[in-house]
Amino acid sequence: MGQASGVTIRHPRNDDYDKIIRVVDDWWGGRAMAAMLPRLFFTHFRPMTFVAHQNETIVGFVTGFVSAADPDRAYIHFVGVDPNARASGIGRQLYERFFDAARAAGSRQVSCVTSPSNHQSIAFHRRLGFEPVDSPATRDGIPYFPAYDGPGEDRVLFTRAL
Ligand SMILES: CC(C)(COP(=O)(O)OP(=O)(O)OC[C@H]1O[C@@H](n2cnc3c(N)ncnc32)[C@H](O)[C@@H]1OP(=O)(O)O)[C@@H](O)C(=O)NCCC(=O)NCCS
Repeated sequence: MGQASGVTIRHPRNDDYDKIIRVVDDWWGGRAMAAMLPRLFFTHFRPMTFVAHQNETIVGFVTGFVSAADPDRAYIHFVGVDPNARASGIGRQLYERFFDAARAAGSRQVSCVTSPSNHQSIAFHRRLGFEPVDSPATRDGIPYFPAYDGPGEDRVLFTRAL
C-alpha cells in the first residue's frame, strides 16, 4: 500500500461541509448518502470530525462521536475517501486521527456499522483491526444483523479496542 504524499488532516473549517455534501453520493458509487450526513456532524461533532486535504482539495473525511450512552465507546458514523485518492493510506490516516481523539476523550472501544454488501468497507475495517459482532445471520461468511437500521437495512456491526 502506498502512502499519499502531502495529505493534511484537520478538523473541518468554513465551507468544508458544503464541498463534501456535494460529492458524497458520488464517493459512495451513486448511493443516496447525503441525507445521512447533516451539517450537525461538522458543527456539533466537530471535535470528532476530520477532513483530509491534498493540494488544497478535499480528498476524505471521517465523522463520529463519543457515545452519550457509553462514554467508553466512540462511534464512527461515516468515512469516505475520493475514489481518485483511494488505496494510498488516507482512510487509515483519518481513522488513526479519530482513534487518537477518541482515546483523548477517554474511550477504550470504537464501533461502526456497515452494509453487508459494502465489500470494500468490510475489507477496510477488517484491515484496520475491527471485528464483526457475532450474529446467527451471515452473508459471505460475515455475521450481520437483518433490518438493523429499518426494513431492508441490514448491517454488519464492527468493534475494535483502542
Ligand atoms: C473504505 C474507504 C474509506 C477506504 O479508504 P482508502 O483511503 O482507500 O483506504 P486505505 O488506503 O487507507 O486502506 C487502509 C487499509 O485497508 C485496506 N483496504 C482498503 N480498501 C480495500 C478494499 N477495497 N479491498 C481490500 N482492502 C482494502 C488497504 O489494503 C489498507 O491496508 P494496509 O494499510 O494494511 O495496507 C474508501 O474505499 C471509501 O471511501 N469507500 C466508499 C465509502 C464507504 O463505503 N465508506 C465506509 C462506510 S461508512
